[in-house]
Amino acid sequence: MKKLMIVMLAALCMLGFTACGNADSSSTAPAETTVPTESVQQETQEQQAEQSAEVTEAEQSDEEKAAPEQTEEQPEHADADEAADDHAIVVYFSATGTTKGVAERIASVTGGDIFELLPAEPYSDADLDWHDSNSRTSIEMNDPDARPAIANDTVDLDSYTTVYLGYPIWWGDAPRMMSTFVEAHDFDGKTVIPFCTSGGSPIGRSGENLASQAGSGNWLSGGRLDAGISESGIQDWINNMN
Ligand SMILES: Cc1cc2nc3c(=O)[nH]c(=O)nc-3n(C[C@H](O)[C@H](O)[C@H](O)COP(=O)(O)O)c2cc1C
Repeated sequence: MKKLMIVMLAALCMLGFTACGNADSSSTAPAETTVPTESVQQETQEQQAEQSAEVTEAEQSDEEKAAPEQTEEQPEHADADEAADDHAIVVYFSATGTTKGVAERIASVTGGDIFELLPAEPYSDADLDWHDSNSRTSIEMNDPDARPAIANDTVDLDSYTTVYLGYPIWWGDAPRMMSTFVEAHDFDGKTVIPFCTSGGSPIGRSGENLASQAGSGNWLSGGRLDAGISESGIQDWINNMN
């Protein structure tokens, strides 16, 4: 009887263990996959962080790969700069607007930039009176060393290879303010083309005088242009320049 009891108890125990094991495997495993516990959430966040770091690294390495391409693009910018270098600039002074109109047409024809030099002390009508030997312009033009100040000489000629330099003829020469300008700039490696307007006088030696004062640059003879010259007239002038 005792033996029978022991066998029955043993059988009951075995049944109990089997039931517990089935219950554990069927209830916990799906729960872990559908509702992450805190530790699993943490693990998942860590995994995501690692994946994110890996993606960032991958992106960085892509950027690093792209960096040399950007470096290789620099010559294209350099080419663009070289193209800009070919652009001309028209720098001029005009007391009463005549040279200004011609300068604007030269800039239009060449596609170049334009810059108007302004005197630090504007010229009044009295200053421009050439009948008065005591007018400001008469006094300035009688003094080869006069260097009237420029109000706005912020011109950077570095990126230009051609400079058109315009002015009115005063007493057969360029206004002394043009001397102030050329002495303040380096024209090395640049072609300089002087041009003027006047009541009839030719450009004369004014360009040569400015070239001598500048001390640098390849100065062409340039010329006097009529106040009403057309753009095609300017194009012809440029085409026939030497
Ligand atoms: C002080 C002064 C001197 C001038 N001297 C001459 C000259 O020697 N020969 C000439 O043909 N015109 C002379 N002119 C006329 C100017 O050169 C001419 O009007 C010019 O087109 C003016 O240009 P702007 O309007 O750009 O200042 C003189 C004008 C002034 C104000």
